[in-house]
Amino acid sequence: MLSGIQPTADSFHLGNYLGALRQWVAMQETHQTFYCVVDLHAITVRHDPAALRRRTKIAAAQLLAMGVDPERATLFVQSQVPEHAELGWILGCLTGFGEAGRMTQFKDKSAKQGTAGTTVGLFTYPVLQAADILLYTPGPGEGAAGRVLRVPVGEDQRQHLELTRTLAQRFNQRFGETFAIPEAYIPEGAAKITDLQEPTAKMSKSASSPQGIIDVLEEPGPMRKKIMRAVTDTGTEVRYDEENKAGITNLLRIYSALSGTAVPELEQRYAGSGYGQFKKDLAQLVVDTFTPIRERTHKLLADEDRLDRILADGAARAREAAERTMEVVRDRVGF
Ligand code: ADP
Ligand code: NA
Repeated sequence: MLSGIQPTADSFHLGNYLGALRQWVAMQETHQTFYCVVDLHAITVRHDPAALRRRTKIAAAQLLAMGVDPERATLFVQSQVPEHAELGWILGCLTGFGEAGRMTQFKDKSAKQGTAGTTVGLFTYPVLQAADILLYTPGPGEGAAGRVLRVPVGEDQRQHLELTRTLAQRFNQRFGETFAIPEAYIPEGAAKITDLQEPTAKMSKSASSPQGIIDVLEEPGPMRKKIMRAVTDTGTEVRYDEENKAGITNLLRIYSALSGTAVPELEQRYAGSGYGQFKKDLAQLVVDTFTPIRERTHKLLADEDRLDRILADGAARAREAAERTMEVVRDRVGF
């Protein structure tokens, strides 16, 4: 399995954790895993170098603190494996201009950036993403045992994975069998988390207000406050109802995901007790979940040499796999 995350904030948020990162940890049990902090993707929009460097370290530290095990998973930073950019170029030369132009995420993001802020890098982002993935698909010989690379994708990434599959097939057809075709994977137990203040909108680092989002590295005080002030409805019933009770439904989803208790059981537990006690217990659960992660993250960040060594080791292992792919690719292309 391969997955990546951008280092674009000083902390991951609750949505990232429940929608993706917690599954990264679980998948180590059953899969050979590659986890990548995708800093090349983070420069497709204007960025600050010092912030990028800091956020890359914080991202890696949080992943380790959450339980990504560098002995089992190959955890690395994308820019430390130059094969990503190299394969990205080659795949870009196989991608139609119109084909790339149909990517809906590009249309959304470029509309937000405006003409002046829209870079070619933003346009070719899905091609680099295809390279991220295809570098780690089993190559000829490696694929003989029917091994396949799985890529967890949310709805917004489906089109990009489709492009990746198309490019892999195109490469194979044009130059000979090289890439096993990667497969989309819907991880079990991934939950969509919404904004605490606008419970019909996704919790998002770019779109949510500070009150609407809970950061993994946040202190317990503000964490509790945000949950106590989360928008609910004028009723009193703790009941799962996406249409009429989006706020309570979101809180139930968070509670259930963090505690492992099924929603109906929670509804029963809080029948007649109102929103106050429910929110108070949820706040405690969130604080108890993230306190050890926050403390471990700070400990990891305090020993930068050790963190750098872990990442260098991950990059070395990723490069080995990437080089195995690139040796075949370069030869096929005629280099
Ligand atoms: P953001 O939306 O905050 O910019 P990203 O787009 O960088 O976050 O997403 C990183 C990962 O976290 C992706 O796998 C994405 O599906 C997941 N994710 C982001 N926000 C949420 C959310 N609100 N609920 C569930 N998963 C989420
Ligand atoms: Na995204």
